[in-house]
Amino acid sequence: MPSEVKRIDDCLSIRNGHLFIEECDTVKLMQEYGSPIFVVSEDQLRRNIRRYKQSFEAGWADGPVKLMPAAKASWSHAIQKIVAEEGCGCDIYSPGELAVALESGFDPQYISVNGVPKDAAHIENAIKKGARITLDGIEEIDVVEKAASRLNKTALVRLRLRPTISGFRKFSHFNPTGPVATDIAAMSYKGGMMYTQAIEIGKRIMKMKNVELVGFHEHHGRHHQSTKYWTEQMKSFAKEIGYVCKALGGYQPREISIGGGFAGHRDPFNAETHYSEPYQLLALHALSILLKVFGSRIRYAVIRFIINLMMEYVPNKKLAPSIEDYARACTAALRKYLPKNGISTKGLMLQMEPGRSLHGDTAIHLTTVKNIKPMDRPLKWNKYILDTTQFWFTGGIYEHHLHDYVIANRADEKKTEKADIIGRSCYGDRLLPFVRLPKNLKVGDVFALLDVGAYQEVSMSNFNAMPRPATYLVRGDKAYLIRKPETLDDVFRRDVMPEHLKSKARNASSN
Ligand SMILES: Cc1ncc(COP(=O)(O)O)c(C=O)c1O
Repeated sequence: MPSEVKRIDDCLSIRNGHLFIEECDTVKLMQEYGSPIFVVSEDQLRRNIRRYKQSFEAGWADGPVKLMPAAKASWSHAIQKIVAEEGCGCDIYSPGELAVALESGFDPQYISVNGVPKDAAHIENAIKKGARITLDGIEEIDVVEKAASRLNKTALVRLRLRPTISGFRKFSHFNPTGPVATDIAAMSYKGGMMYTQAIEIGKRIMKMKNVELVGFHEHHGRHHQSTKYWTEQMKSFAKEIGYVCKALGGYQPREISIGGGFAGHRDPFNAETHYSEPYQLLALHALSILLKVFGSRIRYAVIRFIINLMMEYVPNKKLAPSIEDYARACTAALRKYLPKNGISTKGLMLQMEPGRSLHGDTAIHLTTVKNIKPMDRPLKWNKYILDTTQFWFTGGIYEHHLHDYVIANRADEKKTEKADIIGRSCYGDRLLPFVRLPKNLKVGDVFALLDVGAYQEVSMSNFNAMPRPATYLVRGDKAYLIRKPETLDDVFRRDVMPEHLKSKARNASSN
């Protein structure tokens, strides 16, 4: 054991200049398994799950708490097996996620079938297996009733509401184009229904023999990290549950789900940095026009000075509240506002479906510096090119993710140089623009992108016909392969050659 251990968080530490995940030296992992790779910490995942459970249980003595992490964030079989082993339920979106959930051993009554649109075969399969259907539109109710009657089963359903959170007016981080208040930004998201529609569906369910309404659901997305936003969200949810229940003649739910959308602690989806960029670039542009009169040399020297002074991406400038803070805010608000709206919390099951805040900090991506492009003209600026690509980090593009990073083999060094970190695809692929790095990175240096456990590994694409990298699960000082690296055969597996193109290539002159 090296003498000096600097902790970054629970699973990441720096030991003698190298980044460790649990007890594994990341530099050695790269030497052994190649570059690039995703690496997940089993211990961190289990710890996060337990923290979620304990903190929500501490605030919700009223009834049972069921943690139902969103499978979409990280749906490989090994990961879902760990989540199931910890006694969780599961929020699923698609037939594929349902298949993984069932194979991983989740109790079907704690599988919530979310998503819109849901195909009839998917709904029927879910009812057959005993999963909960979270209804997200009027079109689904007849399909559910027909499937339940055909199967001679009772389908247990919840209504997914879409409360308007009018009491919170800060800019949403969820908006792709720029600063817009959370309630307006929420309109760009399709999930959930108006309470008026929920009332209509609820009334129809009350008359159905094979369908039973067991509760309500909401999920808003990651609009803002502040706990105030969560207090307001719970207040609006409670109010809308109250409206629907009143219209259904005093119906009392057995379970409610508050979805996900909590920010992970280092919060790579915090879009505040992104929103300031257009203003900075506009100011720079105006200045560069004014400077034309001084000639190129002075103009570029000033622009470089300004870029160095102003333009810098600091990935985790604003840490998010902890899981415990979120749990306190949500449970306190629900206990206050549900009774105010005529809903008893006694025996009411509280469910939550975290994705990014549960999986995010469980994984890192290890990648190697392959090329260095020093630039002297028109400005002095370095670009470092990695053997990874933004096409393997598409999960958070809509939300302008910006991941924190550590130079895994030089983790102790001060970051004094500003440069761009670029991916290997033929696009601009500016993975980390304007970031601070140790001086003079070298070919072969190892880059670790942090907080990639949610949405990234599961969103990778094959752009430029690139095979996707492997994923390893780390447990203590051991690493286990949980997703194989793709081969070129894998990449081309779906290609089909039509008969008329199968003949030998003709040369143009014979035509
Ligand atoms: C219904 C539902 N629940 C939970 C989540 C997880 O959200 P997050 O990763 O922001 O916690 C999502 C994400 O889209 C969702 O659609």
